[in-house]
Amino acid sequence: MQTRVRAAVFPVAGRGTRFLPATKASPKEMLPIVDKPLIQYAVEEAIAAGAEKLVFITGSSKRAIEDHFDSDAELESALTKAGKHDLVKLIRDIVPEGVTCIYIRQGEPLGLGHAVLCARPAVGDEPFYVHLADDLIDGDPPCLKQMAAEYARHGGSVIAVETVPANETSSYGIVAIDTANDNRITQIVEKPAPADAPSNLAVVGRYLLDPAIFDKLQHTGRGAGGEIQLTDAIADLLSDKPVHAYAFSGDRYDCGSKIGYLKATVAYGLQHPETGEEFRAHLKDLLG
Ligand code: G1P
Repeated sequence: MQTRVRAAVFPVAGRGTRFLPATKASPKEMLPIVDKPLIQYAVEEAIAAGAEKLVFITGSSKRAIEDHFDSDAELESALTKAGKHDLVKLIRDIVPEGVTCIYIRQGEPLGLGHAVLCARPAVGDEPFYVHLADDLIDGDPPCLKQMAAEYARHGGSVIAVETVPANETSSYGIVAIDTANDNRITQIVEKPAPADAPSNLAVVGRYLLDPAIFDKLQHTGRGAGGEIQLTDAIADLLSDKPVHAYAFSGDRYDCGSKIGYLKATVAYGLQHPETGEEFRAHLKDLLG
């Protein structure tokens, strides 16, 4: 078994309609939490989990993501001239040495499964991470790193899950698991109505997948919402290869929703060394 997971896939082609008008001309993944865009948190988490090949599945109006991870000689030279060497380091360190960024355009909005299939030529025949930047997880160790440790323990694929209220099952992939067998997933359904849900254990935006998923995706037809669903390909994989559910430790914020984004901003603002103290005092005043 290959224990090191080297590739991470970031599906970033979605238009972020839940966050209009902010996302009309700017990628939702570039929305900042305090001072870093969501996609940078995503990349940092993947790198902390050993990824060195970052594969972005991108679309029109997403060029700011490429610019963010590219070097910027003009900005660096202006900052250097101004003596702001700490800021030069800050922007240079966004992509550490030895890490490669690959961009693949998803020509049509055919869903998450299709986006992951687009990554196949860049990932090859190796296990890989899928990270959905909307789901910001404040975890120590970071969520993907926790999943890498789980994978090292039993191999197979690993999917992060969280218990959600029963009336929210129609917003997530929902799994049934065998707790006597390393939490192996026995069933997975995309966005079932509460009455049809096999549990209230929801898939969140972190996956560590066996490359066998690509052959499954190749044969996955359109499912919920008329899209090619990653969930359906995983359902297909269950009978061939073990897929484990992993209840991560940490706090998840759905930053694709306004309320989730606000909660994340407050949580990270309170933790941030520059803003934490003053922000806490301000919130206390405000809420009296
Ligand atoms: C996607 C997946 C869903 C998963 C969710 C996690 O849905 O299709 O199974 O539970 O991500 O965030 P989306 O949120 O893109 O509609």
